[in-house]
Amino acid sequence: MERKEFLKQGLIMCGLSLIPIGVIESCKKQSYAGPSNVNFTLDLTNTANASLNSTGGSVYANGLIIVCTGASTYDALSATCTHAGCTVGYNSTSRTIVCPCHGGTYNVSTGAVISGPPPSGLTKYTVTKSGNVLTITS
Ligand code: FES
Repeated sequence: MERKEFLKQGLIMCGLSLIPIGVIESCKKQSYAGPSNVNFTLDLTNTANASLNSTGGSVYANGLIIVCTGASTYDALSATCTHAGCTVGYNSTSRTIVCPCHGGTYNVSTGAVISGPPPSGLTKYTVTKSGNVLTITS
């Protein structure tokens, strides 16, 4: 085999060996968008939702985190971090949504990224209160 032919075949082999890496990379780019068509209620008299009766309390339901941010003030966001899909939590001291996996932080009112690796904000949902019932919708 001549040197020119050997180099040509080497380049082809190098190109072929990169294909699986490209396939793997494309598989890693998953979407962690929040749930769509959300419409459910939470009864604040239910003991499972009791933490929502206090500022700083939070509850997980249907893929969302619902946070009591003040007297009768609530925010609902996707509970799935947009970076790699970890479940986020609420830090009542910093008043931010935090991801335990790589330290991403989000604004609890808007879902916008404050810091860390998340590529986009958390999906925000609408919360309305009527009596002791919260209604969460897309
Ligand atoms: S999975 Fe949340 S910051 Fe990485």
